Amino acid sequence: MGAFSGKTAVVTGASSGIGRAVALRLGEAGAHVFAAGRRTDALAGTVEAVTAAGGAATAVAAELRGPGAVQGLVDLAMTDTGRLDVMVNNAGVSFRGSLADGDPETWREMLEVNVLALTVGSQAAVRAMRACRAEGHIVNISSSASRLEAPGFYGATKTAVNAITASLRRELEGDPIRVVTVIPGPTATNLARHHPDLLRGVANSLGEELGPPSDGLFPTEALDRAAAAGPVLASADDVARAVLFAITQPIDLSISEISVQPARRPPVTA
Ligand SMILES: NC(=O)c1ccc[n+]([C@@H]2O[C@H](COP(=O)([O-])OP(=O)(O)OC[C@H]3O[C@@H](n4cnc5c(N)ncnc54)[C@H](OP(=O)(O)O)[C@@H]3O)[C@@H](O)[C@H]2O)c1
Repeated sequence: MGAFSGKTAVVTGASSGIGRAVALRLGEAGAHVFAAGRRTDALAGTVEAVTAAGGAATAVAAELRGPGAVQGLVDLAMTDTGRLDVMVNNAGVSFRGSLADGDPETWREMLEVNVLALTVGSQAAVRAMRACRAEGHIVNISSSASRLEAPGFYGATKTAVNAITASLRRELEGDPIRVVTVIPGPTATNLARHHPDLLRGVANSLGEELGPPSDGLFPTEALDRAAAAGPVLASADDVARAVLFAITQPIDLSISEISVQPARRPPVTA
């Protein structure tokens, strides 16, 4: 019997990276995982991995910027299983660009995914957990970018995540629902592939050249090399294990924040 046998979890952004790793850990622990994202092929890979690990998973193709999408996701989990025990608001996007020159449409997308979908997902989860009288956990994925002196627009959305999650934690003190902010540092996922300075620095430290990106993404091999370079990038599973730690504590204990950082700072080159 796993810690989450007979329980239901929803994970947004489960088609890759941290979300997929969390879905896998939850599935291994016995949860029925509702795994959401836009890329159906990648979601099928998540379901396959969870099933191979002995868990149960349902893929849910959803554009979280759409009206009602996150509520619909929670409603589906409730309709299919009658309960919701764990909600992991993980989906996120990070676009580069300065405040002086950045594209406001990228700001809108970061706000809608990183902040609004997470907040609506949290609200939907509270209502569902109360309805089924679950001892529940809400996990909101922030970023160490929120702690920078000059966090930029992406970091600002994660600062909002920290503030909203702390407020929800306070609001729910009287409920058997715990709320944790998970703050990853640089992690070897697709998201890190959007940060050429980081990857170039890691590649240079290995004495390698990082080729040009294709369609805005660096080749997977570059990412693999970066992750293999040692503790300058966390792995998605490092973050997933921290999530599992937080949500397997007694319900009368609040793990309010967990920061998951690689042991060394990445070398950054121009
Ligand atoms: N990697 C890092 O260094 C790092 C550091 C700190 C925090 N984080 C945070 O970790 C979380 C997960 O990111 P990751 O690093 O694992 O990157 P990732 O592999 O790119 O995962 C992002 C996930 O979000 C989903 N997503 C994005 N926009 C969406 C939308 N409009 N509708 C539905 N789903 C959407 C993506 O699914 P589809 O593409 O299939 O839609 C994907 O599954 C994010 O909140 C990110 O800000 C990452």
